[in-house]
Amino acid sequence: MSKNIVSKNVIVNNVFSDEQIVSLYNDISLDSNENIMMQDFYGRLYIPLYWRQKTHISDPIELKINQSIFDSILNYSSKFSNVPLQIESISFARYSSQYGVPLLHPHTDTNFKEPRLTFDVQLNGNITWPIIIEHKEYILQNNDAVVFSGTHDVHWRSKKILKDDEYVDILLCQLSEKTDNPNTIDDKFMKDIDIKQKVLRLKYEKGLI
Ligand SMILES: [Fe+2]
Repeated sequence: MSKNIVSKNVIVNNVFSDEQIVSLYNDISLDSNENIMMQDFYGRLYIPLYWRQKTHISDPIELKINQSIFDSILNYSSKFSNVPLQIESISFARYSSQYGVPLLHPHTDTNFKEPRLTFDVQLNGNITWPIIIEHKEYILQNNDAVVFSGTHDVHWRSKKILKDDEYVDILLCQLSEKTDNPNTIDDKFMKDIDIKQKVLRLKYEKGLI
C-alpha cells in the first residue's frame, strides 16, 4: 500500500484576497505569456507557472508569481495533510470551447513517483462544472479550492457541453512531502489504481457515469 499524504478531501472557500487574484492575473499575462500551450484534447489553454524540478513539461520555472500566493497555497494545503509539504508545481488552465471540447475524463496523475496533494483553485468562471473525486461530486464557486490526492484518487469532470461564452479558470497546484527520504508509490498500488481508472474511463466514455 502506498501512503496517501492527504488527510481529508475538502473544499476550501475564499482562498485568495482580491489583491492576490489581480496580481496573479497580471503575472499570468494571458495575452503575452510565452509559455502558453493549447491543449485541444482537453479543450483548454495551459500555462506552467512554477516548477520546482526539471520535468518532461518544463525546465524549472522561476517563481513568477507573488510570494503571498505561494504562501497561501502551502498554508491551506498543509491543513489537510499529515506530512510537511512543498510545492512541486503551479499551473494555470482556462477551459473554453474556443480551445476544443472541454473535458476531463477519469484518471489519476500517474506521471509522479511520489504521492501528491492536489490543490486546485477555481479562480474565475461562469459555469457550474462538478469535479468528481472517487465518485463524490465537488462543486467549486470562484475562489474555492478542492484538496485531494491526484495520485491516489481517481478524478474527473462530469460531462458538460460548454457554450461559446462559458469558461472556467483553474490554478492547478501539486504538492509533495517535504523530506530527504521520499516515499515512492509502490508498483502494486500503481497497477491496481491503473485498472480502476481504466474501468471508470470506459464507463465515462459509454455515458454510464
Ligand atoms: Fe489530474
